[in-house]
Amino acid sequence: MIKKMFLVKPRKIRNRSRLLGAVQINSTSFFVCRNKDGQVCLRTGKEEKIQKDILQRMIDLNPMIKKILDDYKIKPSINTKTLRELSGGHMNDTCKIAVGIYSKLSENLKSCINKSAIKEASMLHDLGKVLIPSKIINKPSKLNKKEREIMNIHSILGYELLKTQKIGLETLDLIKYHHQNLKHTGYPALNCDHNPSDIGVQIISTADKYSALREARVYRRKLTRIEALLILYKEVLEGKIHKDVYNALYEYARNFDV
Ligand SMILES: [Fe+2]
Ligand SMILES: [Fe+2]
Repeated sequence: MIKKMFLVKPRKIRNRSRLLGAVQINSTSFFVCRNKDGQVCLRTGKEEKIQKDILQRMIDLNPMIKKILDDYKIKPSINTKTLRELSGGHMNDTCKIAVGIYSKLSENLKSCINKSAIKEASMLHDLGKVLIPSKIINKPSKLNKKEREIMNIHSILGYELLKTQKIGLETLDLIKYHHQNLKHTGYPALNCDHNPSDIGVQIISTADKYSALREARVYRRKLTRIEALLILYKEVLEGKIHKDVYNALYEYARNFDV
């Protein structure tokens, strides 16, 4: 569970990185740094080895993970480079945008939302990608059907990795369904005890999509704010995104440089 997120006075640490803050996941503290190239990243004292050890322990604790990997014929390997890039970039941005969306919702809607679960889930939502083969994660072109199927299990893998880690059920649910939508056409398929209109899922999935559209991909440039908002508005018209969540994102994006 993320126990603390705190900002510290920027200062130089090794490799000319600047320390911006820190986040504590379970009992391990990760430092949020900006490296000499200007990218934000996560570090620990012996980051690579510690991250691999933590993730390996998470895998060993839950036999379901091995079963899923076997079903998809994926050789278990931990891609900590992906974790570093996601933590410092996309998951951090998704968290910022999700909190921004929350801040612009009506008091009535806010009262049905667990803000700390939103923060935790958005900071961890793509953790499962550490088990997706890097040749799929880093493929410079569109994924084929089989690769897409493998990529899509990252939300379940993230859920399974974290479910043994004393993380609240609400946070776990948000991680598992962060690619689900109001029309139930996302993934993974819903089970009867999950309510897809849950506003929390909508906040994370909308923040996740907006963050992804605002990032450059090997196959496309970074979209402008208006372009990204237009794409999401189309999903409102298709009944996939809750209009109040979209309006909150619009208000947030209009007033802040995201
Ligand atoms: Fe995802
Ligand atoms: Fe994501």
